[in-house]
Amino acid sequence: MYTSTFPSKLPSIGTTIFSRMSALAQQHGAINLAQGFPDFPLHPSLMDWVTEGMQKGYNQYSPMPGFLPLREAHAADIHRRTGTIVCPSEEITITCGATEACFTAITTIVQPGDEVILFEPAFDVYLPAIYLAGGIPKSIRLEAPDFDIPWDKVKAALNDSTKLIIVNTPHNPTGKVWQHSDMIALEKLVEDQELYVLSDEVYEHIVFDEHQHHSALEYPGLREKSLVVGSFGKTYHVTGWRIGYCIAPPLLTKEFRKVHQYTTFAAASPFQYAIAKALLETSHMDGLRSFFEAKRNFFLDSIKSTRWMAKPTQGSYFQIVSFENISSLKDVEFSEYLTKEFKLASIPVSVFYQQENAPSLLRFCFAKSDDTLEKAVRLLCHISASL
Ligand SMILES: Cc1ncc(COP(=O)(O)O)c(C=O)c1O
Repeated sequence: MYTSTFPSKLPSIGTTIFSRMSALAQQHGAINLAQGFPDFPLHPSLMDWVTEGMQKGYNQYSPMPGFLPLREAHAADIHRRTGTIVCPSEEITITCGATEACFTAITTIVQPGDEVILFEPAFDVYLPAIYLAGGIPKSIRLEAPDFDIPWDKVKAALNDSTKLIIVNTPHNPTGKVWQHSDMIALEKLVEDQELYVLSDEVYEHIVFDEHQHHSALEYPGLREKSLVVGSFGKTYHVTGWRIGYCIAPPLLTKEFRKVHQYTTFAAASPFQYAIAKALLETSHMDGLRSFFEAKRNFFLDSIKSTRWMAKPTQGSYFQIVSFENISSLKDVEFSEYLTKEFKLASIPVSVFYQQENAPSLLRFCFAKSDDTLEKAVRLLCHISASL
């Protein structure tokens, strides 16, 4: 029987803040700019293609590495956009969302006692997987407002036990996009080392202004040591379909698939069929940047003359906003207060840190319909005027 003395494998981990804030938003009828999912409809063709997939009989297990036409279409799209050649049969594995891809990648690489370098603030999927694998997280703190990578600290953190570095660009929650110079620095760091990289690139298509996404796939020294993770859920506004992927060199992919086959075995067949069709039409992906940039700009312009302070996010669909000039509450309390009293939900940035931290920052997701965003910015202006 379960008792409070049950030896939890994740004693310090609770229900994710995203689920908690979404539940609180629902309970209080608040506008939810907390969890990172779009509230606008998917392209109608996607629905047609799922139905077509089912009608054509794609209702049983897909092959364990993923539906081959999807992997082929993905490889062709990567080649079209970046010139990088990826082998669909030996290097791409389709997973149940990027969440499974991250979990499987960490489980594949990390042995008990291995150290894993990650950057905080950090998205919450990495730590539990590191703990379950018996790894030791070594967090390197990124500081607001620029969240630059402190390469001297990264070098200092490296030792013979370091097995994996986890990179996330464009970054959740800060929107930071790694520059070419950062990728080169990382490439140099892993050179001649028994060291691997998990490159979480789920927001690869969402970068703004002069920023460019630099994938680990494009750097030879990283390509051979990286597991690159992405999410079709993010790209096609269908996070509930749970379709992600991992790209890695054949030897790493072979090991990755050993874990994947006993974790989920395969992702849902009709959804894989639909994404394979969608990838053949390039206009959606090519339009994502301007689509989300308009939303980011609307959000920022609307709060420009308030006491909220924000540096334009470089990528992802998140905007970090400082409430330093509005409240002295801790960010968790302030975020809950706004949800209950002003009916606007956000994510407090301190939850992305392991160490005690009070940055007075909230994360807002602007992957929302114009109507939702208009209501949200009206509330933000009202909050700034009334507190
Ligand atoms: C940085 C990052 N990695 C991974 C994921 C997980 O993506 P998926 O929904 O495909 O599991 C998310 C989702 O929010 C994310 O923000």
